[in-house]
Amino acid sequence: MLNFTHDIPTKLHFGKGAIEHLAPALDAFGKNVLLAYGGGSVKRSGLYDTILDILRDGNFKVTELDGIEPNPRIESVERGVELCGQNGIDVILAVGGGSTIDCGKAVATGIFWEGDLWDMVTSRHGQLRALPIVDVLTIAATGSEFDGGGVISNMALSQKVGNSYTYPAVSICDPTYTFTVPAYQTAAGSADIMSHVFEGYFSRTMDSDLSDGIAEAILKSVMRNCPTALANPEDYEARANLMADSSVACSGIPEYGKQSTGWPCHAMEHQLSAFYDITHGVGLAILTPRWMRHILAKDATTLPRFVRFARNVMGLDGDDELSLAHAAIDALEDYLTSTGIPMALTELGIGREHFAEMTARANRGGRLDNAFVPLTDEDIEQILEACL
Ligand code: NZQ
Ligand code: ZN
Repeated sequence: MLNFTHDIPTKLHFGKGAIEHLAPALDAFGKNVLLAYGGGSVKRSGLYDTILDILRDGNFKVTELDGIEPNPRIESVERGVELCGQNGIDVILAVGGGSTIDCGKAVATGIFWEGDLWDMVTSRHGQLRALPIVDVLTIAATGSEFDGGGVISNMALSQKVGNSYTYPAVSICDPTYTFTVPAYQTAAGSADIMSHVFEGYFSRTMDSDLSDGIAEAILKSVMRNCPTALANPEDYEARANLMADSSVACSGIPEYGKQSTGWPCHAMEHQLSAFYDITHGVGLAILTPRWMRHILAKDATTLPRFVRFARNVMGLDGDDELSLAHAAIDALEDYLTSTGIPMALTELGIGREHFAEMTARANRGGRLDNAFVPLTDEDIEQILEACL
């Protein structure tokens, strides 16, 4: 088990009615609020009206940053920074999913960034000065509500880049706000949660019992609760479990004491989204079983980890370890297929034409050198081919 330091400065209010914490949370920072949200789901669900009522009752002054795209664009960040500057914003309130929260985080730091904002997204900067950000989460997926990262896209350059910005000061996580999440996004978000766990679970560090136990619990919870939420979108227990899974999966907790892997499936998926603007979790669902088969075939020392996954997560048993490992990957693929999302790139109209560029970018800077099985450009291209 490796040394680690962990600091999550986010206060997370979880559960039905957690919105009662919104006004006091904002009040701690001031009265001038930038309300950021996406393409309209918050208006359709009624959450927008609820929040405006709270803001009106609390005498807050509201400036709106609307229309933040899934896979949020640099242009939305630029728009938000401009609005903050023009209106003397004290605090950012992001209401939505990972895209809205990520954009809000980049706006929060962008207001203090001197120079081109795309440089902020792409540079290796240290800790950034930031406006405080409060969020109201509406979809269980990325964990942006409980981490300091964000992912911003520049479609003109076909680039999608993850970086660290700032942690939310306060996250309000009421599972009832996820009742309206469509089946496709519920399944995609659940696949994203699982991938956040896989990225750390399949690491070279084998003796971190706490992290591995938490990781296995999250994976089982997602596979139990996602089908329930798909069958009954208003099942509170299922939505609540998925929301809690989302926050912990990407928080770093399931990686306590483990060697960082560079997150290979995310490195590859961000290229798919950058070139084709696909839903993040769908790209991950397609990649994950193919990546697993590839590394298992490439490096036999991975076998014990796959056997553990088969037994502890997929509930399989048997004496032939290689068959067991393959059965677990097949079962995972079957599970993901059963959630109704596309499981091949061709279903999304994606061919191999950009594979070479994607491969070079996914592996830039030797990012995947410390992966569970380090991936060469050739490996990545083979994995992408297997996804067609
Ligand atoms: O835009 P609106 O109209 O709000 O609709 C959204 C969007 O179309 C809809 N939605 C969200 N909540 C809803 C709802 N529809 C009905 N009812 C609700 N309650 O769902 C769609 C997807 O929303 P989005 O915010 O894009 O989803 P998600 O939370 O999956 O975020 C994805 C983005 O986060 C990044 C991804 O790469 C992607 O850009 N990630 C961020 C991470 C982080 N900050 O730590 C880590 C992740 O690995 C990920 O890369
Ligand atoms: Zn993710």
